[in-house]
Amino acid sequence: APSPFFRLRPYDFAHGAKTANRAGMTSRERFLAACQCQPVPVPPVWLMRQAGRYLPEYRTLKEQHGFLKLVRTPELAAEVTLQPVQRFAFDAAILFCDILVVPEALGLGYHFRDGGGIEMEFALRSPEQIRALAPVAAVRERLAYAGDALRLVRRELGDATALLGFAGSPWTLAAYMVEGGNVGGAERLRTLADEDPRHFALLMEKLSDAVADFLRFQIECGADAVQIFDSWGALCGTDYERLSLQWTRRILAALPSGTPAIVFAKGMAAQAPAIAAAGAAVVSVDWETPLAQVRDALAAAGLRAALQGNLDPAVLETTPEETQAAVRAVLANMAGAPGHIFNLGHGIRPAAKLENVAALVETVRGAA
Ligand code: CP3
Repeated sequence: APSPFFRLRPYDFAHGAKTANRAGMTSRERFLAACQCQPVPVPPVWLMRQAGRYLPEYRTLKEQHGFLKLVRTPELAAEVTLQPVQRFAFDAAILFCDILVVPEALGLGYHFRDGGGIEMEFALRSPEQIRALAPVAAVRERLAYAGDALRLVRRELGDATALLGFAGSPWTLAAYMVEGGNVGGAERLRTLADEDPRHFALLMEKLSDAVADFLRFQIECGADAVQIFDSWGALCGTDYERLSLQWTRRILAALPSGTPAIVFAKGMAAQAPAIAAAGAAVVSVDWETPLAQVRDALAAAGLRAALQGNLDPAVLETTPEETQAAVRAVLANMAGAPGHIFNLGHGIRPAAKLENVAALVETVRGAA
């Protein structure tokens, strides 16, 4: 028999949004309430990397224009940002952009290798190269297109749907810059941190100030919340505070206090209390650690933060039935506790199936 979820193309989001918002709260209100650990009738849902290659309408636009042109053209970036929200009625849109635009604005460009992977224009290795990076003030100027895209998206969404800005963490950005592309084990960055702490600090201060200003700029242009991606946080091992978190803390302290910040440090769920203490309103958790375990660790430390996550992205390559069961398991693990934003444990993969994404959203919406 055909799956009950397969009827949805395009996803009947009017129905989904109506169900989810029947208690009289908009998606944006539910999203912001969840960030503050206030009770909501249904957890808000969005997916990391929700604008991307699993969507046929994204692939069509990318074939026409190429990735970098999509990112740099506000009308196109706005269209790609809205694609997943139109199809699935997610409660939040996330700006279509990339974490590597900040190194680019500082003078270190990037491109994608044929066959996958990142290549930076050069590898940042010498103190002279670090000192030659553009001033922080260049970031807003050179990334004006991101602000323009956010304003266009906000105009389309009105105030019904949350809008997220984002940036990479200084550690994760430095890893791409110093390794010169694919990060591997970040050996060169670790060597810099250990053997030349003065220049490591110079680079990390520059990145922290640049990221903080880029996030403030995105908030000024309409972002309701911002997410910091520390995708390579696990490469810090036991040195997370020294190598990464101290710089993220500096960014969090520089953001307007009313705007929630989400921190995603992949592989570092054990650091959730430290991340919350650093000022994150929301800790985004990968799929290796049950949310309830993180919630208990926060409570034991006397801390309060909302949790985001943490469905295994591989589930979206299975079936709607398996997706539904896995979504229910994540929801049951949180047992309806306030402060849950439903998401994946890492970005959605290109092989994710549309009917499974639809099943995910329907199942979360049915959870009330
Ligand atoms: O969430 C969203 O939908 C917003 C858009 C977004 C992109 N990248 C678009 C993108 C976001 C939030 C990112 C963040 C990002 N970029 C991260 C952190 C998130 C994570 O998954 O850990 C990282 C590490 C990057 C750097 C980056 N950009 C990589 C490693 C790649 C893949 C390169 C490859 O091997 O193909 C990208 C490209 C990229 N960024 C794509 C998208 C949609 C795919 C580009 C394509 O269409 O081929």
